[in-house]
Amino acid sequence: MDGFQSKLTSSLRFRLSLWLSLAIILVAVAAGSLSFFTAFKEAKVLQDDQLRQVAALVDEHGLPVEPPDLSREDKEADPDLKLIIQTLGDSGAGTGGEKIALPAKLLHDGIQTIVLNGERWRVFVRTLRSGERLAVAQQSEIRDQIATDSSYRTVLPLVVLIPILTALISIMVGGMLKPITRLSHEVDSRAEQDLRPLAAHQIPDEIRPFVASINRLLERVAQAMDLQRRFVADAAHELRSPLTALSLQAQNVMATELSSETQARLIPLQQGIDRAKNLLEQLLAFARSQALVKSAVTPILLLPIVRDLLEDIAVQAQAKNIDLGATVEEGLSVLAHDLEIRTLLRNLLDNAVRYTPQGGVVDLCANAVAGSLCIEITDSGPGIVDAEKTHVFEPFHRILGQEAEGSGLGLAIVKNTIARLQGDIELLDAIHGTGLVVKVRLPRV
Ligand SMILES: Nc1ncnc2c1ncn2[C@@H]1O[C@H](COP(=O)(O)OP(=O)(O)OP(=O)(O)O)[C@@H](O)[C@H]1O
Ligand SMILES: [Mg+2]
Repeated sequence: MDGFQSKLTSSLRFRLSLWLSLAIILVAVAAGSLSFFTAFKEAKVLQDDQLRQVAALVDEHGLPVEPPDLSREDKEADPDLKLIIQTLGDSGAGTGGEKIALPAKLLHDGIQTIVLNGERWRVFVRTLRSGERLAVAQQSEIRDQIATDSSYRTVLPLVVLIPILTALISIMVGGMLKPITRLSHEVDSRAEQDLRPLAAHQIPDEIRPFVASINRLLERVAQAMDLQRRFVADAAHELRSPLTALSLQAQNVMATELSSETQARLIPLQQGIDRAKNLLEQLLAFARSQALVKSAVTPILLLPIVRDLLEDIAVQAQAKNIDLGATVEEGLSVLAHDLEIRTLLRNLLDNAVRYTPQGGVVDLCANAVAGSLCIEITDSGPGIVDAEKTHVFEPFHRILGQEAEGSGLGLAIVKNTIARLQGDIELLDAIHGTGLVVKVRLPRV
């Protein structure tokens, strides 16, 4: 019942189908009842006319009152023939040869209903030209049965039509609401940054203003996001120069002759400045990855980029004695900005090396699989538990208890970049032992 209630309030299609079907059933029941009772009444009038006509035929053509005895089979086949024709005063004879005792004194000329031995009879009495009184009678029960049967036959088309009509309504309403369903699927399947206006063609006129207001809202959201992105990018950019100056100053101070105590105190200062520089770089990359406008790109080869990145990260890997390797299929290219793809792979390789303990293994493998470019980065680190696999893509989210430092922006940048490139990313558990397999798929050139 709860499901029905919620469907009743939430589904326009369900409500339209339900109320239209109820209206049709209501009208059909009213029309059916009316035609049933009209047909019943008309059948009764017709039956009375039949009695009158039989009496008139006997009178005008002087037919014998005793009709021929019909075979049993015929009697059963047509109950209509169960007419009693007799002159009042004799014992009478039916179409089947039956006789009934009619109370001559109580019967007047014309049509009437009487009760004989507990059974109701419809009797028409006519005074013949010979002066005799003729009665034509029929049992009310048989008359009612015939009238009811013929009335039901008038209602039958309606009974057949109701389920067909309700099914048609449900199909038609579904068809009419299809553009709205299509629109909601389109919105659902969009990437977070895709704030392009919704296409309003093939949308019913009644829904068009709603789509237009959603488009205005999308435009405002896009403007607000762009403003926020530019603010972050500008702030990071503005902070870059003073921080670089600060870092140089710290290096200069370190180069001068200082007591070992002062030297020791300067090391955390230098490390802090490095962390801040790293955070600014990540913030700039994050703002870039959020950019809404996609500029024209040309295909770029993957192999040279991977080579450069491996060289950059080799020092970090050697410091932890990590076995760093890569296998990239020759000639693989991707449709993206050079910086975009470098930032994406650098963040993934950096994570793999940073979170893999001493003596571990990090491997990059890139190949073409069924029309897309598949890049897999496998490490032998602690991996990521399933509950965290979606959260790690949120900006500034870091898993608690992590020794290695970081700003928590790397995977958010990766996610935005992959969305811009219309690819997808999966975090899987390593097949052997612990570790993470990051699987990236990008459209191939
Ligand atoms: N290869 C990996 N193995 C284990 N944990 C990982 C791995 N990659 C990412 N994580 C976890 O996911 C979190 C988010 O990673 P993300 O790259 O977004 O940020 P970060 O590495 O902390 O900082 P940075 O912005 O410097 O990259 C990390 O803090 C880490 O806990
Ligand atoms: Mg990272």
